[in-house]
Amino acid sequence: MTTTTATAPGKVILFGEHAVVYARPAIAVPVAKVKATATLTDALAGTGCTISAPDICAHIRLSSHQQDPLALAVRLAIEEAGIEAEPDWQITVRSDIPIAGGMGSGAAVSAAMANAVFAHCRFPAHRRPTDETVNRIVYEVEKRHHAHPSGIDNTVVVYAQPVWFVRGQPPQRFDIARPFHLVIADTGVASSTAAVVSDVRRARERDSQVYEEIFDGIGEITVAARQAIASGDVNALGPLMQENQRLLRQINVSSEALERLIAIAEDAGASGAKLSGAGRGGNLICVVESDSVEKVRKALQTGGAVGTVVTQVGS
Ligand code: PMV
Repeated sequence: MTTTTATAPGKVILFGEHAVVYARPAIAVPVAKVKATATLTDALAGTGCTISAPDICAHIRLSSHQQDPLALAVRLAIEEAGIEAEPDWQITVRSDIPIAGGMGSGAAVSAAMANAVFAHCRFPAHRRPTDETVNRIVYEVEKRHHAHPSGIDNTVVVYAQPVWFVRGQPPQRFDIARPFHLVIADTGVASSTAAVVSDVRRARERDSQVYEEIFDGIGEITVAARQAIASGDVNALGPLMQENQRLLRQINVSSEALERLIAIAEDAGASGAKLSGAGRGGNLICVVESDSVEKVRKALQTGGAVGTVVTQVGS
């Protein structure tokens, strides 16, 4: 019996969430310290394909759950691989990425499973499905989770690279002249991206001029952040995060828990902090000088964050 394992990282959006749904740019980076891992094992002949996700107590048969997002990722990968009859496989997927926390857990689970299917098929190099193919599959699954995903989550998780992302355009890599540290903190409040994105959509329909101006403002901050990152001007990032957070507040996607932890991080020495992802809960990110990392992390833990991750952007 052969076993194949594949992984995909979590992610955070540094700048530009929500505005990215409306064609403004966003910047996102992978977070390798948290990941989804899919393990695919050949099962006894005739048993079909089963998928287990113990973290969410899910155990499904591929043949009877065609519409389930877990099954969809596997089904699309099987089709892409040209396998016609249902294979006899047991796929187990685990993840330590917070669920519904803005860190791309759904996209990472889909990417890990699609990668495991392709790796298990042992294609010769010239026929091996590309990251672009995996990205297309994961985007299809993302569309099941919420109706209008911009595509940023699947892109950063599949390519596992920092990306400059504009909806409908190929993702671009960008230079990181000087590495910097982020502290990521989880409010512990689960938040549905679909619900927050559709609230923003409705509010924009009511008040389109105000929303378009805010999205333009977020777009300008994102452009400035890219320049700062590319030129090694790390000191500019904190104030840009604060400014981005101010605009996110105006579109009502922050929350008391986020604001409280953002204030704690800044008091403890973070040069700027903002929510990351859909908001109303989930995770916040802070840009922190290396000698303040531990102080900020501890302050966030003591202040009620249910988990923290420290990551370096750039190497
Ligand atoms: O909460 P997340 O990690 O799924 O991030 C969503 C980012 C949004 O810009 C709010 C939506 C999107 O599709 O880009």
